[in-house]
Amino acid sequence: MRHQATLISGDGIGPEVTRAAYELIQRAGVAVDWEEVFAGAAGVAKHGEPMHASVVDSIRRTRVALKGPLETPIGKGYRSVNVALRAEFDLYACVRPVRSIPGLPSVFKNVDLVIVRENTEGLYAGKEHLIAKGVAETLKIVTEAASTRIAAYAFALAHREKRRRVTVAHKANIMKITDGLFLDCARKIAAANPDIEYNELIVDNTAMQLVIRPERFDVLLTDNLYGDILSDEAAGLVGGLGVVPGANIGDDIAIFEAVHGSAPDIAGQGLANPVAVILSAAMMLRHLGEPDAATRLESATRAALADPAARTRDLGGPATTATFTAAVAARL
Ligand code: NAI
Repeated sequence: MRHQATLISGDGIGPEVTRAAYELIQRAGVAVDWEEVFAGAAGVAKHGEPMHASVVDSIRRTRVALKGPLETPIGKGYRSVNVALRAEFDLYACVRPVRSIPGLPSVFKNVDLVIVRENTEGLYAGKEHLIAKGVAETLKIVTEAASTRIAAYAFALAHREKRRRVTVAHKANIMKITDGLFLDCARKIAAANPDIEYNELIVDNTAMQLVIRPERFDVLLTDNLYGDILSDEAAGLVGGLGVVPGANIGDDIAIFEAVHGSAPDIAGQGLANPVAVILSAAMMLRHLGEPDAATRLESATRAALADPAARTRDLGGPATTATFTAAVAARL
């Protein structure tokens, strides 16, 4: 069966790593008609705006996208297109599986957790303003509807993936009303799912427990900001940002992308590790109903990573983006 998907190559290392992913999808024998569109800094260069209508139109038509990272100006300029896309399509669940990869030089060998991050509200609603000179304010929006929906997603994922525990990371000791509401919603869903163990941790303690005993985490349910920070931290437990994939899931549209950003420090040098985007592409294949190809792509990626000579520089190896991709292709 042929599939349709939108391709956003992205900024910085984006074009290098997404290219690896779509070449490997083809190599895995899955036919995808890609519609390429440009967003972020590439969108500004092509259309004069970071989120041109063609981006939204294409994703609305194909209902699935593979996306490279998009650059966001810091402290000024346009709103994050990443956040805007998640809001536009109500992609409420950000799902990031973090797994140890056998053979990689990492302190931890048995990490196997999934971060389920609320993706539409919290502090990322971007509702901020200056109330007076020298005084800035931002709103943290938490709704019962979104909190219940993400908690239900986390428990459904736990069932689907035969996971045993959901841990909520929160700060309801300080933000008693907002994080308190998030927690209340999670507790109600937990009560309806007694077969899955449920526990709660304050987010600062979560950050510490993650670097001491990461293997105790299974499904980690959290809000938008904590999820963003804990994702990078968790990536650091298994080899870094170069290896952790992700998905932004809504009711009928999904965008697949790595946890990492555009890595301007290494862009255009062939140094980027494409594993995170390749594994995001595998998640996309599963979403498209191609589980065999997804599993083959994941296995080939892991097999290539087992060879130290095939690894990219971030993992201590000599390979380039292109030679690593060729090593995966050879194993597919
Ligand atoms: P970053 O994730 O781009 O880079 C952090 C560090 O990790 C850098 O040293 C980089 O070289 C390294 N790194 C990241 N991905 C790598 C890969 N695949 N292979 C090897 N090394 C890799 O984070 P940073 O520097 O904070 O952000 C840069 C830009 O990316 C910003 O404009 C930011 O807004 C944007 N960004 C976009 C995201 C998205 O599109 N979803 C997510 C995070 C950041």
